[in-house]
Amino acid sequence: STLPSSKQFAQKDGFRFFMEKEIYEQSTVVSDCMLGRIADKSISFDEIDSSIIEGINEIKICACGTSYHAGLTASYLFERLSKVKCNVEIASEFRYKEPLLTTDTLFVVISQSGETADTLEALKMAKDAGLKTLVVCNVDNSSMTRTADATILTRAGIEKGVASTKAFSTQTVVLWMLALYFAKAKNVISSEKMQEELHALREVPKSLVVNDKIHEKTRRLSKRYLHGHGFFFIGRDVFFPLALEGALKLKEISYLHAEGYPAGEMKHGPIALADPELFTIALMPQNLLYDKIKSNVEELSARDSTICAISPLDFELADDFIKTAKTDHYMLEFFEMLVALQLLSMEISIRLGNDVDMPRNLAKSVTVE
Ligand code: G6P
Repeated sequence: STLPSSKQFAQKDGFRFFMEKEIYEQSTVVSDCMLGRIADKSISFDEIDSSIIEGINEIKICACGTSYHAGLTASYLFERLSKVKCNVEIASEFRYKEPLLTTDTLFVVISQSGETADTLEALKMAKDAGLKTLVVCNVDNSSMTRTADATILTRAGIEKGVASTKAFSTQTVVLWMLALYFAKAKNVISSEKMQEELHALREVPKSLVVNDKIHEKTRRLSKRYLHGHGFFFIGRDVFFPLALEGALKLKEISYLHAEGYPAGEMKHGPIALADPELFTIALMPQNLLYDKIKSNVEELSARDSTICAISPLDFELADDFIKTAKTDHYMLEFFEMLVALQLLSMEISIRLGNDVDMPRNLAKSVTVE
């Protein structure tokens, strides 16, 4: 492949690809994203006030691609922390299913660009049906921010890599903060719990700092994971949407077949594929359902799948292992693992000689149906 011109290289701050630069930027942009929004005892957003949740019994989220995965993650947080019913739909499905919409639903769309055609149309449908609408977006003055009643900006800065990285981490942080904001507005969270959550939020930038050892490990692992008949990324709870995101990253830039799966569902079909040529990337957090995921991975290992565990805890059955830092909150583990997954897909893509920033057949923003 041709070497980048010196101007291109400067734009990338010495990184090989924009994707790599953007992975490394996540810690900083997430700090920007939290700036002025985390107070001593609560979360605040200049853009919204607590009337947004008044009279709301349900949240519906619509998005596409990586933004959809941020939405799925948020659905766990909205129910767990804010005690609001929440469901998530892919925008292109939502549009044509003749959805039943009621005005006690807050309609939330998530979009890096603010221009994705299906998400924009879903937003317009909800607005026409009289629902309150909110967009979580990275681009101010985009079609979606102009359409929605309220906007929360993710402040990730311009994202150039087609495979989304820092847009996803900032979206997830905004949605986590929003879950806490709703929890407080509805008075369903104790002050101790709020303190714990705020403490964890403040640690997110640290969890997103790229650890050299982990980067080096993904570089070495990339040699082993180029062949075989496919990848299963598995996780439970919020680590299920994270597994979907890990699989999507790999598909997008390496063109290898990968699927994200809820770990507990493997026995209902996919485990039939298990053999040494099936690579399982297992997300095994210490702070959430560890024993459950462990037994799911043991089942796969017993059927000879090759296991790459991503975990802060040693796992003797792992064929390969990416050791993430120990933290005291599952969402911090989420971000630690996110970085490892992004690096792994990027290193595999680089080793295959692909154009990491401009993968074949894909566009940064899909403005047609
Ligand atoms: C395209 C991009 C994805 C992105 C999706 C949704 O498919 O390649 O990276 O996640 O669109 O884009 P949005 O701008 O709405 O987040």
